[in-house]
Amino acid sequence: MQILVTGGTGYIGSHTCVSLIEAGHSVIIADNLSNSRYEVVSIIEQITGQRVIFYEVDVTEEAAIAEIFSKHKIDGVIHFAGLKSVGESVEKPLLYYKNNLLSTMILTDACIKYGVNRFVFSSSATVYGENDVPFEESMTLKPTTNPYGETKVMSERILTDVVQSNPELGVMLLRYFNPVGAHESGLIGEAPNGIPNNLMPFVTQVAKGKLPKLHVFGDNYPTVDGTGVRDYIHVVDLAEGHVTAIEQVTRGVRIYNLGTGRGTSVLELVKTFEEANNIEVPYEIIERRLGDIASCYANVKKAKKELGWVAKRDLIAMCKDSWHFEKK
Ligand code: NAD
Ligand code: UFG
Repeated sequence: MQILVTGGTGYIGSHTCVSLIEAGHSVIIADNLSNSRYEVVSIIEQITGQRVIFYEVDVTEEAAIAEIFSKHKIDGVIHFAGLKSVGESVEKPLLYYKNNLLSTMILTDACIKYGVNRFVFSSSATVYGENDVPFEESMTLKPTTNPYGETKVMSERILTDVVQSNPELGVMLLRYFNPVGAHESGLIGEAPNGIPNNLMPFVTQVAKGKLPKLHVFGDNYPTVDGTGVRDYIHVVDLAEGHVTAIEQVTRGVRIYNLGTGRGTSVLELVKTFEEANNIEVPYEIIERRLGDIASCYANVKKAKKELGWVAKRDLIAMCKDSWHFEKK
């Protein structure tokens, strides 16, 4: 299939392009490079040995999207393009609602007009809010604490409504847990601008000496050691989950958690990182971060049963590959 990958030069998108090509598909990337670099296109080509078509476009621009759909025979869309910083979304809610909602609407509209019936959407575990772990797809969603989370809840709703009125369309809503790690080549990975918000890139930058120490946000949660528990998933497993999803789209809406089903605390992750890479990560416990929940991990039975997909890579591989990328 020929797949339009929006946000394809970003962290998860670039790994998914590699996995799609390795599975025999071809990709067209649409990205405005607001949070990624043009060089990623040639790196994907270097890793896979295949040519990639790239459009530097904003996917909220209807005319630019129409041009891509009219020029190419597209079999499916994987929609990664979006803004993802929780803190920034609180400061700039309109930017987030505009970017993340318009892009979803414009792309689905184009799919209907051009008869493209496969659509995979990047949702997030954040839509579960403060439910009891493990999170299951059938749970009633609880309110999220920020505009970013709401754009995911609203996008899921928009896509569900659109499918209701367009029964030929097939949509997969993939709820990611915490993607970490990098491609084994060390050529693509997560390279946030400025000081990282997320745990793993912060840890790798401390290990490298770019930052003096890790701040652990709270040690009095009701968890194994008091620190926050998350379901870390290797980004290549996540990428492979997208290949499986786009290949298996059927009419209607289907929702899947993409995680490992295992919870890891902040201190457990730090310890595993230190042992896996034989390097020290100094840390200090500070107060909780506003809006954080104690525990977030997936029930992964549905993806295994219905898609035949499971995450294969363990936390040691995630720590090694993250460090390999940081060093490179
Ligand atoms: P990323 O920032 O690395 O990638 C997103 C890409 O989209 C970037 O290359 C950016 O330039 C592009 N982009 C943003 N707005 C655009 C627009 N209007 N037009 C064209 N391109 C645009 O982020 P990521 O971590 O790869 O995340 C991909 C998707 O997965 C996002 O929708 C994100 O919300 C979702 N997600 C990420 C995580 C995570 O922890 N990384 C967790 C859950 C869900
Ligand atoms: N943490 C620290 N210190 C840091 C960064 C994080 O102690 O410097 C802790 C957090 O308190 C949390 C855990 O590490 O307990 C993971 O935090 P991240 O910021 O890496 O990830 P979150 O689970 O908070 O959020 C991520 C994405 C969201 C997405 C969510 C889905 O950033 O966009 O996963 O589960 F919605």
